[in-house]
Amino acid sequence: MKGAARADEPAELVVTDLVVDYPIGRRRHRRAVDGVSLGVPAGRAVGLVGESGSGKSTLAKAVLGMAPVSAGQVTYGGKRLNDLGRGARPQEIQVVFQDPYSSLDPTKTIGYTLQEPLRAQSARTGRSLPAAAREELVRAMLTKVGLPAEAADRYPAQFSGGQRQRVSIARALILEPRLVICDEAVSALDLSIQAQILNLLLELQQDLGLSLLFITHDLSVVNHIAEDLVVLFRGRVMETGPAERVHRQPQHPYTRQLVVSAPLQDLDRQRARRERREALALPPARQAPLGESCPFAHRCAFAVDRCRSERPLLRAAPLGGQVACHRAEDLPPWSEDLTHPHEATGSTAP
Ligand SMILES: Nc1ncnc2c1ncn2[C@@H]1O[C@H](COP(=O)(O)OP(=O)(O)OP(=O)(O)O)[C@@H](O)[C@H]1O
Ligand code: SF4
Ligand SMILES: [Mg+2]
Repeated sequence: MKGAARADEPAELVVTDLVVDYPIGRRRHRRAVDGVSLGVPAGRAVGLVGESGSGKSTLAKAVLGMAPVSAGQVTYGGKRLNDLGRGARPQEIQVVFQDPYSSLDPTKTIGYTLQEPLRAQSARTGRSLPAAAREELVRAMLTKVGLPAEAADRYPAQFSGGQRQRVSIARALILEPRLVICDEAVSALDLSIQAQILNLLLELQQDLGLSLLFITHDLSVVNHIAEDLVVLFRGRVMETGPAERVHRQPQHPYTRQLVVSAPLQDLDRQRARRERREALALPPARQAPLGESCPFAHRCAFAVDRCRSERPLLRAAPLGGQVACHRAEDLPPWSEDLTHPHEATGSTAP
């Protein structure tokens, strides 16, 4: 286990049957999250993975009170959060967003930015921390995330992207949260810097007993940090299970596509895979309206009539975990080469 649960008061995020509809104009809406359930137990790292537009950030925003919850519920430590405004959400939940450039105020020193949550906390509770104590806390936090204490006196522009993301992490940690939501927290960074930030998050998770909800479109990134995975597609959960198993033996056709499209560190393997796929290229598929069909039916090599008329529910998967696929038992054993529609259709579709 990568993280360690803290013995005192277990923190747990539970999302149940969450639906988020964004209004479009007066009468219409776009359903961004469509009945998602997931849990982040105390001290564990859960990865939420899916392609762009699958609803990952919307789910995070619903937890943070920044997106409208149409149905379902979000609880933290047993307390229902749905009806709490953004300002009333528990400070035990903090977030690190993707873009360290836009999330830090360029006109404020790092020290000022890191003190902001402390000042807001004082205003909320009426218990003010002396300025010297706040400064000391900021310096200690900067050191914890691998930056010099003097960074407090500098401005964001004086730091690299990786360093700025360390500042964002320090800002998220300064109120001693129990759960940190990382929404594409390393996606804007170069590969080598990504690895440093992932390692930092892992260390912090272990040292502080944090829970992590780690959101990314990149399966290869999430595999380094998460113990459990939730795979999202068009606002619905496609597969869940231990990260290592989901990565090694994906049981949903969509997860299989995600695995083969995740970038490989080995450039030769990456090139060989790309050439193989290019040789078999299909025209891009059209995205059909959802209705009662499987959301993946328009891109799935294994789709049969039932997939277009009956929504597959999340259920126990043949190799453990859960999967939302009518045909999970019929898929050929996992191999990267079998994921391409031409090959897979020819060999398995009835
Ligand atoms: N404020 C909004 N109003 C209307 N639609 C929205 C809004 N925010 C997001 N959406 C739509 O909701 C769906 C899910 O978006 P979301 O940002 O949650 O996806 P994501 O998985 O985080 O994608 P990405 O990987 O690109 O960050 C998309 O179709 C998106 O266009
Ligand atoms: S339910 Fe059907 S369309 Fe959906 S992933 Fe499974 S086989 Fe493919
Ligand atoms: Mg997003």
